[in-house]
Amino acid sequence: MSRPAYRGLGDIIVTARPFDEYRAMFDLADGDLLDGPVLDCPAGASGFAAGARAMGCRVTAMDPQYAGPHDALEQRAREDTAFGNRYVRDNPATYAWGFFRDVDDHLRRRMEAVDAFARDRAAHPHAYVAGALPALPLGDDAFRLVVSSHLLFVYPDHFDYAGHVAAARELARVARAEARVFPLVDTTMQPWPHLDRLRSDLRAHGVESEVRPVPYEFIRGGDHMLVLRPS
Ligand SMILES: C[S@@+](CC[C@H](N)C(=O)[O-])C[C@H]1O[C@@H](n2cnc3c(N)ncnc32)[C@H](O)[C@@H]1O
Repeated sequence: MSRPAYRGLGDIIVTARPFDEYRAMFDLADGDLLDGPVLDCPAGASGFAAGARAMGCRVTAMDPQYAGPHDALEQRAREDTAFGNRYVRDNPATYAWGFFRDVDDHLRRRMEAVDAFARDRAAHPHAYVAGALPALPLGDDAFRLVVSSHLLFVYPDHFDYAGHVAAARELARVARAEARVFPLVDTTMQPWPHLDRLRSDLRAHGVESEVRPVPYEFIRGGDHMLVLRPS
């Protein structure tokens, strides 16, 4: 499949991360999940909702891709997972090997996440809702916790600075307690350069924030999340 010539991994792919990867990326304790409701946006083809639901969490997955047919998204997720795995193989120095044992383990666990996603979406279709930042089809404070991974800060060609501010404010708007955003680096390990300015602009809009370490690193340097707290 041909890809546009963006920096690093390129244009946005539909990834599939397993539940335990989400738990580590967002440093999620059992209570964070059981106290729900929890929103994952963008959820892609991840297995987070499946794993959280199995624990008893009230969870919703949201992604613009859910507007299309189920089978086509599952197929795309498998292709994008294989594409992402080839990128990892070709750029080994970009990655830290702690969570995944090696590139084969990466491919296997990410494909298993697609399986978990497809099963859970078939069983709970209403928990997979189409929606796109920066305007989610949700009321204020609709979820206690919101998690958002691998969209903001990771694809700087997709959202400009104003788009990042609008998307972060939107995540905070729908979160009663916290919105957690991970990681703070792009796929070439570059930290997003406008984080201080963003935090200051968010504060002016009534959103407090904190940069918090997490017990996970895959893209080297990607071991912190941004926690947003609506005031
Ligand atoms: C790299 S995937 C991340 C998925 C999941 N969070 C994970 O970590 O595996 C990026 C996702 O962002 C979605 N996306 C693209 N534009 C979006 C937007 N404006 N608002 C919300 N999601 C968007 C894509 O459909 C894709 O599924």
